[in-house]
Amino acid sequence: MNIWDRKYRDFEEYGMDIISSVSVLPEAHNVFVVADAAAVKEITSSRTQFPKPVKLYTVLSYFGGNIVASEGEEWKRYRKIAAPAFSERNNRLVWEETVKIMADLFENVWGDQKVITVDHAVDITLPIALFVIGVAGFGRRMTWQEDSKLSPGHKMTFKEALHNFSLDFFIKLTTPDWLLKLGLTERMKRANLAFQELEQYMLEMIHARRYAEEKEERYDLFSGLLDASEEEFDGEAKLTDRELLGNIFIFLLAGHETTAHTLCFTFGLLALYPEQQEKLYRHIKSVIPDDRLPTYQEMNSLNESIAVFNETLRLFPPVIAVPKYAAEDTTLVTTDSSGNKVVVPIPQGSGVTLSIAGLHYNPRNWEDPYAFKPERFHGDWPRDAFLPFSAGARACLGRRFFETEGIAILTMLVSRYTIEIKEEPEFAGETFEERKERIFHLKGGLTLTPIRMPLVFKRR
Ligand code: HEM
Ligand SMILES: *[C@@H]1O[C@H](CO)[C@@H](O)[C@H](O)[C@H]1NC(C)=O
Ligand SMILES: *[C@@H]1O[C@H](CO)[C@@H](O)[C@H](O)[C@H]1NC(C)=O
Ligand SMILES: *[C@@H]1O[C@H](CO)[C@@H](O)[C@H](O)[C@H]1NC(C)=O
Repeated sequence: MNIWDRKYRDFEEYGMDIISSVSVLPEAHNVFVVADAAAVKEITSSRTQFPKPVKLYTVLSYFGGNIVASEGEEWKRYRKIAAPAFSERNNRLVWEETVKIMADLFENVWGDQKVITVDHAVDITLPIALFVIGVAGFGRRMTWQEDSKLSPGHKMTFKEALHNFSLDFFIKLTTPDWLLKLGLTERMKRANLAFQELEQYMLEMIHARRYAEEKEERYDLFSGLLDASEEEFDGEAKLTDRELLGNIFIFLLAGHETTAHTLCFTFGLLALYPEQQEKLYRHIKSVIPDDRLPTYQEMNSLNESIAVFNETLRLFPPVIAVPKYAAEDTTLVTTDSSGNKVVVPIPQGSGVTLSIAGLHYNPRNWEDPYAFKPERFHGDWPRDAFLPFSAGARACLGRRFFETEGIAILTMLVSRYTIEIKEEPEFAGETFEERKERIFHLKGGLTLTPIRMPLVFKRR
């Protein structure tokens, strides 16, 4: 079942919001795919009954045990240490640094150009997201300009290492270490080198923090993890250095592409719907009428931007499905197309996949589900049918991090530039629907990935 291409269609054809896909392999368990809001809520609120199938994630443990690839007591320990790092102080840091990164882009890269054309919006959004996670996650500030200063003992700057690692970590994740060490291809060489460099930077930072004469107040995620890991938790062991690395790297993996792709989708939708863009512009101007930089305190007043992001995440949830399994024999309840209650038996060991795409396009929850209408999120909306960050005990830890970064970016960009789809002669005759289809032609990989989103930013 192709969850992204099908969205709600299989549920509609089947006449029910829980589908069982029986495997042809005798030893394999059934998988139940769920797009029923109430059933999804039941699943996400009982972590012990519906745990995460960590086997699917073992490859992510390469960098060390971590919060994403674990379950049970191990996960609890990581979550307890990691959650406090996503603090109010960290959010403030995310905001302030994101504003600086955008100001640096406008002043020093785009300069006085009236029109900036990008062939693919991720060429802008990936570096922005990388710089933000670099400073607010790893505690290292970077700029758009080349930084030539190489730290002693390093072959790469931190920026280059983070960048090359982000390009190649899938190679790193899917290639056995011995093969990687052989450096068979140029890309593999690059991945290995970048990873070694990052690891060395991180170890140096751990050392510098541990043995610093005076403790500096720092609010990046890495410092937060380090602080928490120095404290005892209910007499349990602290994080080892390896676990510290595992968890900080997983933030990069969990947060980088999801954020960059969501920003790309948001820009694309605002370009396709200029009246929505205009509405957002007027809202931003009503909060910040002049040219000054937006402050962190103003973030809560910029609630229209959140509605735009929420509607973008409903239409294009980067994580289209969340896998769980049944730890014991149980049942789930749903309704069929005539509104009758149906009890679905779920045998122990069955896979239970939350179809986020099915849920977000379910017409029982959302009127006209394919339409882009941020105003759906004004007033009442079906909270249990909106799950881009998953829900319950294992919900995304980085939601506020993303929202803070996103609002700062949108506020800075939309108040200064208009966003349009790039006009290209080969697509001159296309209709609105054809254009939308072209721009939003996506790859459903690990996360939903835009293939080519050509945009133009014009100075207001
Ligand atoms: C638009 C951006 C983002 C989206 C859509 C998103 C989505 C998700 C989803 C669906 C999960 C659950 C995955 C699962 O159960 O398999 C998750 C978990 C997680 N996310 Fe995010 N995420 C985003 C940004 C971030 C950022 C920026 C960070 C960190 C800086 C982050 C850190 C995490 C962590 C640590 C977990 C694991 C939580 C746990 O298992 O206890 N995410 N995210
Ligand atoms: C990092 O990646 C860039 C661009 O792909 C490449 O030119 C550069 O050589 C890489 N750096 C190292 C030290 O491998
Ligand atoms: C934003 O806040 C204003 C004033 O508090 C309110 O009228 C408006 O409905 C809110 N918008 C959203 C999207 O929640
Ligand atoms: C946006 O979605 C989040 C859940 O991800 C929710 O808590 C928040 O209230 C929503 N805000 C608006 C304005 O839609």
